[in-house]
Amino acid sequence: MPFAHIRGTGSAVPERVLDNAELEKIVDTTDEWITRRTGIKQRRIAMGDNNESTAALGTRAARGAMEMAGIAADQIDTIIMATITADRIFPSAACMVQKELEAFNAAAYDISAGCSGFLYALESGNNSIKSGMSRTCLIIGAERLSAIVNWEDRGTCVLLGDGAGAVILRRQDEPGGLLSTHIKSDGRLWDLLYSDKGNAPAPESLAGLVGIPFHLKMEGNRLFKQAVPCMASIAEKALEQNGLSREDIQLVIPHQANLRILQAVSEKLKIPMEKFFTNLQHYGNTSAASIPLAMDEAHRQGRIKSGDCVLLVSFGAGLTWGAAVLKWTL
Ligand code: ACO
Repeated sequence: MPFAHIRGTGSAVPERVLDNAELEKIVDTTDEWITRRTGIKQRRIAMGDNNESTAALGTRAARGAMEMAGIAADQIDTIIMATITADRIFPSAACMVQKELEAFNAAAYDISAGCSGFLYALESGNNSIKSGMSRTCLIIGAERLSAIVNWEDRGTCVLLGDGAGAVILRRQDEPGGLLSTHIKSDGRLWDLLYSDKGNAPAPESLAGLVGIPFHLKMEGNRLFKQAVPCMASIAEKALEQNGLSREDIQLVIPHQANLRILQAVSEKLKIPMEKFFTNLQHYGNTSAASIPLAMDEAHRQGRIKSGDCVLLVSFGAGLTWGAAVLKWTL
């Protein structure tokens, strides 16, 4: 049975930084409240003038991963893009990325699984490689959540941000790479976090955000209570399936929703926070982009070494949750 190894990582974030102090001028909130309740200090916001569509951010992240992997566009067999904020309802954002990359030998499609989208996409890529359908998969998570946020709702707009991350998955015979993926859903609770309309175009300036019709609706409190046990139980299942103990994990790269959620998951799993990579203070919750964006930063900062066991764990709209275990071979 072949293995799917990560051969390259990449990421891209919009230029415009929106910090908590500036957010205080948009909604009735404070830096103190946001920091204490979430850990978030700033987020990035896509601007139309900067060519920061979801597909453009995804393309930039993909180029970074391809360059690291030494993979040319025509070698890619499958492009899977996890997003809930594709630039259009159709065609898929993945097809737009395909055009930009000129990866014309690939099949390209999107996956919608909220903040767990990247792990769903990773599972699809893994299956495609293991079944022999693909040798090289480009897996992207990219979001422009600023387009679907209600900028008058302080309970949600302070949490979310824009960005993208990508990995190149490549078939190799040597054991390692993706050791397992687990994904789960519970559609009974879909109405804890949902969108009621399509997306608005990126504005020319921050002032343009306030007028957009709002779409994202969330029951943050109830989600918080679901997130912790779901993330902990699926992570435990992933460890168990691989015969790994907590001590065998060198780094946890979780979905970056809220520092307090991660602290609670860390306690439940008995894996110390020092082993949790976090960058939510810089980017907020970027939904499907958050894990690959964090993975790229962790790798480029030297936080992951070849041979390390890495645990990915996520939770999001759907509800959906997932975990993956990687033997890092980059
Ligand atoms: N600034 C100031 N006050 C605020 C703000 C704000 N931005 N937002 C809410 N408040 C107020 C509320 O109005 C409330 O006031 P009240 O007590 O007078 O009624 C008070 O703060 C407490 O509100 P809660 O919603 O109970 O605060 P909580 O501690 O639950 O924190 C939060 C809210 C941060 C949203 C938290 O519930 C959370 O992180 N939930 C998980 C959300 C999440 O992770 N969603 C994403 C998962 S899925 C995905 O990633 C897409």
